[in-house]
Parts: sequence; C-alpha cells; structure tokens
Amino acid sequence: MPSVTFRVGDQAFTEEVADNTNLVVRAGIKKFPFPHLKYKCGMGKCGTCACRVLAGADALPEPNWKEEKVLGHRLAQGWRLGCQLWLHHDLELTQDRP
Ligand code: FES
Repeated sequence: MPSVTFRVGDQAFTEEVADNTNLVVRAGIKKFPFPHLKYKCGMGKCGTCACRVLAGADALPEPNWKEEKVLGHRLAQGWRLGCQLWLHHDLELTQDRP
C-alpha cells in the first residue's frame, strides 16, 4: 500500500492508502488528507488541488493535458494536480508555496 505524507507548514501527516487511490476522492469522503487538502472541482479544471511533490515524483505518470493546461510552467517546478493522480507508490507532497 502506498504511504502518503502530506505536509502543511511544520506539520506532516502520513497515512497508508489503498493502491490506485486518488487523494481528492478520499478528501471528498472526508478521509485523509481531508481536511488539509484544498480542492474544488475534482476534474482538473480549477487548479485548487495543485500540490508540490516533495518525494516520489519519479513514480508518477506523465502529466495529462489537463495538468499541462492548468499548471503550465509550474509542472517543471514539481507541481501536479492531486485530482488527476491515482497513486501506486509512496508520495510526499504539500500545497505550501516554496
Ligand atoms: S480539484 Fe480542481 S483541478 Fe483538481
């Protein structure tokens, strides 16, 4: 099972999630990373779920066209859309700005 660490300021929240988990879907049913994960549309349109990947980016799939459209140059800085990711590997991420 993937282990996910979500950092908010000085705090780190870690939990194991089922394989093929989407963090926005989980937050929508009030499971980790709720209440810390910010999100809105869940469809790759609003950008609210943008997360900066701190570890595990290599195991993620290439960004899809929605991420490219919404994130633009932020992709190269390690940002991804949480609602567009289904997790199969350990991941550490934050929504804090660097
Ligand atoms: S929640 Fe809107 S883009 Fe992910």
